[in-house]
Amino acid sequence: MPSINRRTALGGGLASVAVLKLSPAKGARQVQPEFSLGVASGCPRPESIVLWTRLVFPETPADPFSFTPLEQQEYAPCEVEWTLARDAALTDVVQRGTTVASADFGHSVHVEIDRLTPATTYYYGFSCNGAASRIGRTKTAPTANAETRVRFAFASCQHFEQGFYAAYRDMAAREIDFVLHLGDYIYEGGSRSGKVRSHEAGIPTTLDEYRARYKTYKSDADLQAAHAAFPWLVIWDDHEVVDNYHSTSAPTATNEPHFLTRRQAAYQAWYEHMPVPPHLAPDFRNLRIHDHFAFGSMLDLLLLDARQYRSHVAANLAEAAQSQRTMFGSEQEKWLEERLSQAHAKWTLLAQPTLLSERIGGYGREKDILDGWDGYQVARRRLMTMIDKAALRNVVLLGGDLHSYYAAQIPETFDMPAAKPLATEFVVGSITSNGPSQAALDKALSANPRLRFGRGGAHGYALATLTQDRCIVEFVAVSDKNDPEATVEVFATFTIKDGISAIEISK
Ligand SMILES: [Fe+2]
Repeated sequence: MPSINRRTALGGGLASVAVLKLSPAKGARQVQPEFSLGVASGCPRPESIVLWTRLVFPETPADPFSFTPLEQQEYAPCEVEWTLARDAALTDVVQRGTTVASADFGHSVHVEIDRLTPATTYYYGFSCNGAASRIGRTKTAPTANAETRVRFAFASCQHFEQGFYAAYRDMAAREIDFVLHLGDYIYEGGSRSGKVRSHEAGIPTTLDEYRARYKTYKSDADLQAAHAAFPWLVIWDDHEVVDNYHSTSAPTATNEPHFLTRRQAAYQAWYEHMPVPPHLAPDFRNLRIHDHFAFGSMLDLLLLDARQYRSHVAANLAEAAQSQRTMFGSEQEKWLEERLSQAHAKWTLLAQPTLLSERIGGYGREKDILDGWDGYQVARRRLMTMIDKAALRNVVLLGGDLHSYYAAQIPETFDMPAAKPLATEFVVGSITSNGPSQAALDKALSANPRLRFGRGGAHGYALATLTQDRCIVEFVAVSDKNDPEATVEVFATFTIKDGISAIEISK
């Protein structure tokens, strides 16, 4: 566990906060930090929420092109005070406490606050050595039997060099309950073309290098605004570690012991920058991110990890069909089966990084096809059987990864043209990452008729609204991802009626 010493107290600001005695490490300096990476909240449950920030020290090298080891390591542990209140001025205090941010975890702060009121908006902030963070806003999930409408945004793939985050600025102004991020929060590699801004040169392999990459991404004001406005739920895909990696190696990093050390560094950096609970630390050799979140009787949301436990990428489609291959790993699969059997909300949503639907014939590079579910066909069949056996009322899959938008019907089996519908699926386009053209998508659509909709060359995010009688998904795009002042519009709207796994396209 990180050295969290959390003291909480209830009541309108009457709590006295005990001051921790922190003895600085030898040679360490106590300096006022900056909260220049913003604040965030996440993992909303009816009575708890996670608050996040990370302290940055002014002497940290400012050169964005350097991987010079961060001097951050020289700073002593800092006592950070957090405040949760009912108002944006943080005067009507609900809880207040302190925690310790240490160099071991990049001076990141993760506080899990419990005993909260369901479906309630709260405001929060941090202070340390006289410096104060911006104020964030968050919201707890509704209580178990609440029939409240749920509205959220989902997004993926935000290459820093390939565009600006106007999509996040637009998202931050919406009225939504939470944001779901489906992976590729950072990219480890640089941009070959269309670069509008630069991150550090080189590809990170060490903890400090991954920290530097997150720090660059998190310096973006629009991304910070979206984090400060809503709680986030996050999963990862491959670029949080390295392109197309599977559990123990990657096409560009085949030395397993070396790769696992690198993966551990990448997982730790991910933890240090995400609003996830402190109990995930300190062992980053493996990091369990699959989880279940409930939003009243409206939504069971399952977050899935399709990278950490998956089989290697197949050499061809014949190998992809081998029965022992796995996408989730056997433990997560067992967990998922159990969770699906317990799901009771009106809508069950499965959040995983990419397109589940078949997309073969007439599309793209085999390498990209094999990295997705088409390269894990038996694992996909097991998942579809699991969904079928659970006999749930409404199942919707959400994914990202493809840098283009898709809406699809998932049948009971892909082998029979007239198979009955099992679920629906939406893949969100990238926030900024370059993607395929509409011509490439048109080939995929004509070869795979269950892909009901595909849009290439558009970038942004998606909104989902769940009510008793329908699920509405809206695809939102920016006018130009290279323009920081881009305008934003909903370009496609889809409706799924309760009890019918069919998509109506209305725009
Ligand atoms: Fe991506």
